[in-house]
Amino acid sequence: MNQPETLVTLQAAVSAPSYVNNIRLLNWVREVASLTQPDRIHWCDGSPGEYDRLCGELVASGTFLRLNPELRPNSYLARTDPSDVARVEDRTFICSQRREDAGPTNNWMAPAEMRATLEPLFTGSMRGRTMYVIPFSMGPLGSPIAHIGVELSDSAYVAVNMRLMTRMGRAALDALGSDGEFVPCVHTVGAPLQPGQKDVAWPCSRTKYIVHYPETREIWSYGSGYGGNALLGKKCFALRIASTMGRRDGWLAEHMLILGVSRPDGRKYHVAAAFPSACGKTNFAMLIPPPGFDGWRVTTIGDDIAWIKPGADGRLRAINPEAGYFGVAPGTNEQTNPNCMASLRRDVIFTNVALTDDGDVWWEGLTAEPPAHLIDWQGKEWTPEIGRASGAKAAHPNARFTVAATNNPALDPAWDDPAGVPIDAFIFGGRRSTTVPLVTEARNWVEGVYMAATMGSETTAAAFGQQGVVRRDPFAMLPFAGYNMAEYFAHWIRLGERLAAVGARLPRIFTVNWFRKDEAGRFIWPGFGENLRVLAWMLDRIDGLGQGEETAFGITPRYRDLAWSGLDFSEASFRAVTSIDRDAWDAEMRLHDELFAQLAHNLPPELPATRAAISARLGL
Ligand code: GTP
Ligand code: SPV
Ligand code: MN
Repeated sequence: MNQPETLVTLQAAVSAPSYVNNIRLLNWVREVASLTQPDRIHWCDGSPGEYDRLCGELVASGTFLRLNPELRPNSYLARTDPSDVARVEDRTFICSQRREDAGPTNNWMAPAEMRATLEPLFTGSMRGRTMYVIPFSMGPLGSPIAHIGVELSDSAYVAVNMRLMTRMGRAALDALGSDGEFVPCVHTVGAPLQPGQKDVAWPCSRTKYIVHYPETREIWSYGSGYGGNALLGKKCFALRIASTMGRRDGWLAEHMLILGVSRPDGRKYHVAAAFPSACGKTNFAMLIPPPGFDGWRVTTIGDDIAWIKPGADGRLRAINPEAGYFGVAPGTNEQTNPNCMASLRRDVIFTNVALTDDGDVWWEGLTAEPPAHLIDWQGKEWTPEIGRASGAKAAHPNARFTVAATNNPALDPAWDDPAGVPIDAFIFGGRRSTTVPLVTEARNWVEGVYMAATMGSETTAAAFGQQGVVRRDPFAMLPFAGYNMAEYFAHWIRLGERLAAVGARLPRIFTVNWFRKDEAGRFIWPGFGENLRVLAWMLDRIDGLGQGEETAFGITPRYRDLAWSGLDFSEASFRAVTSIDRDAWDAEMRLHDELFAQLAHNLPPELPATRAAISARLGL
């Protein structure tokens, strides 16, 4: 059989349009279809017409509710199954050949054993459903730093979310070409339908597996339709698989926002910041300068993920591989994040927020007073009285919005630039009600890596499990590193060494904590737009102007070193968010030791050495 006939035969076998000419892709789609046995195959072209049609089908099937078009044009509400509301870290696996390559912080199973486990689950798992072929580009289309993925999913909810979150559709296939490489991503909600069986609004399975094979760069996701479990371009590809690609090829895939910040005189800087899930990335990336900062401007390049590569001059440059935001709704309002509220005026998919009587959305923190009546995220009646009596939230704490980046009024002009933006500073920040001060600058790269590696944060609703417990979340990557965490630390240290050796200007490294609380449990630091005061000090430090003092950990500003115009924040309050409690730090350093003991295999020696220097300075 000659080549064109093979192509035509293959296309016909998987209902592919004639423009699909990648034989490897067609073969793989055929294989997965014969395993999962969908009723039909739909190739997503990414067009607006397709998006509207799929959303219409989701409305008809009861997964989507169309919101009031007067109040929230072209927007929908999805309510998930109450068991399927967040990432499932205990069901997430890195299946490298060797256990050491996944490291002690990841769940691991041998690839052959995992394949044997998954095969019966995926067999026939798409019966009665449509398999959507979802081609997408992570990064600007056709850019040399972008990578193509193709997700096969039996969820139309996933298909429409992927259209907002990535460059999805025919253009991604054109970029792939006939022999381009793609990361294959298979997703099923794990709820096949028998002939005549009525579907539920949110199909999913109690059994869940989020599986990565780093050596063959495959992703297999079973049983969940939610967020990072199901939108496989995001955490699975752009972080877990991409981090292994970055280790091999000398770049970084990080859980970081990227922002541009300009001074009134026009000088512009770029900052990438890693905060754990639900710890403030989207908010920081869309920050509106507070009173007293006239003429300053913050623009968004990305709000969750950064791919960072050394340029020809050795300077680190970052791109946002995504094209949309899957952001936390609760806590978002006109005061905390006006740019986000403006982004959400239209064209949004809301998931697990509450519904108002006039067909709009509400969530905790949107308004000071809740409406008198709502339908909650589970579709039940909700009133403030019911909320008070039962403690039931109207919106799920991990309720989210999906919206295209182009809806953001603060979008940076370079957000889609294939060359990326040069990074001047890295910021790391956890959610800590005690112990960790507002801001500290590392004296050098290794000290910065130490700070990032030992970062702790209180757990949030972004992942299934207990909330509010402090855990180590190195680089905000605990759930997202696709390989051994100790080797990930080494990768950072060696990259810094290599760039310094060629005389490149390395970004400064800072840690922050917006979340210190008083005895009554209230946040002391006003946060949000006011965080620019801290960012401005960092820029001064970069320019060699900012003052500060040395502590055991690094350099911190004194009260007089920050600009306070426009904010009433007393020196006593400043002390409350910057004080270093010796006993608390004694306990904290023991947690660093525990982390290093867990990661002892291949831990770079610079880290225990930095720890020893800190405790010597602390006198501990
Ligand atoms: P993921 O999308 O899960 O990665 O989260 P994220 O890091 O983008 O967090 P996001 O900006 O969505 O914020 C999560 C929650 O923290 C929201 O409820 C915000 O309102 C709240 N938050 C963000 N910034 C601040 C801050 O500076 N201070 C306080 N107190 N809360 C904040
Ligand atoms: C996170 O949990 O860090 C998120 C949300 O950004 S999800 O896409 O579900 O991972
Ligand atoms: Mn995130």
